Amino acid sequence: MNHPDTIRKNVSASYTRAVEQPQPTGGCCCSGPIAPGVLTALAGYGYETLAGLPPDAVQNSFGCGNPVALSGIRRGDTVLDLGSGAGIDLLLAAKLVGPEGKVIGVDMTEAMLERARANAAAAGLTNVEVRRGIIEDLPIEPSSIDLVLSNCVINLSPEKPRVFAELHRVLKPGGRFSISDIVAESLPETVKTELLYSACIAGAISEAEYLAGLREAGLVDLEVPNRLVYDALQLRGLLDPSAGAACCSGSSGLTALQLEDVCTALAGKVASLRFVGRKR
Ligand SMILES: C[S@@+](CC[C@H](N)C(=O)[O-])C[C@H]1O[C@@H](n2cnc3c(N)ncnc32)[C@H](O)[C@@H]1O
Repeated sequence: MNHPDTIRKNVSASYTRAVEQPQPTGGCCCSGPIAPGVLTALAGYGYETLAGLPPDAVQNSFGCGNPVALSGIRRGDTVLDLGSGAGIDLLLAAKLVGPEGKVIGVDMTEAMLERARANAAAAGLTNVEVRRGIIEDLPIEPSSIDLVLSNCVINLSPEKPRVFAELHRVLKPGGRFSISDIVAESLPETVKTELLYSACIAGAISEAEYLAGLREAGLVDLEVPNRLVYDALQLRGLLDPSAGAACCSGSSGLTALQLEDVCTALAGKVASLRFVGRKR
């Protein structure tokens, strides 16, 4: 097992490549041999929502769900997005909190921060701030956040208990979270590679481990309101770099045959879940 800093460095390099090279299809981390945008819509955004955003924010979306939907964001809220990427959820949340609210994104990848700033400016939003940092050690004041969002990021952390503890630390008492993320049940050892780590697979933990981690950090009222279990075709979209699967960009280490084997082995074992809950 590599040192956590080495894992973060590799992940960050992978996402820098993902936004710095053109993507042939829709751009979501699940995009693949399916018409552009179909899986982004499957993630739960809906075409109308996406149409109101700068195209760059949509094309560089790497999420696996829509943590903003039904998250109960209120006008005036202070919202934090862990691993905000190019900013799709920042922008959606910023519209909902209004000018009296504020949305903060934290990401460790400079190329992502630049894109998020540019996308917020393109959308004319002045209540969005992005900060460079790691989600295991957030550059955020304690007990200052009404709602924490995150989309397809915590699976990438080599130190998930630290992330869950930080989530608890930054929330106000009664503050809530809405997290979309990948979970995996009984991953075969053969898929635990660096390539599949940046692709949001190899670092994924099971639903039970995720819930236990949140609970151990002191978070309560835990629920899983949304669940999408991936089939082999959807996994191919997630993993096939030749089809524009940006999560694993720069990772052309799988032959077509290996890719088929991996997708078959993982079908039904990998899912996108949304976790919600609150700080007491
Ligand atoms: C799969 S992308 C998701 C981006 C965004 N949430 C979205 O839905 O488009 C993962 C993002 O998390 C960031 N990231 C991954 N691990 C991180 C960590 N430990 N600390 C901070 N950022 C991290 C990456 O730089 C990347 O921007």
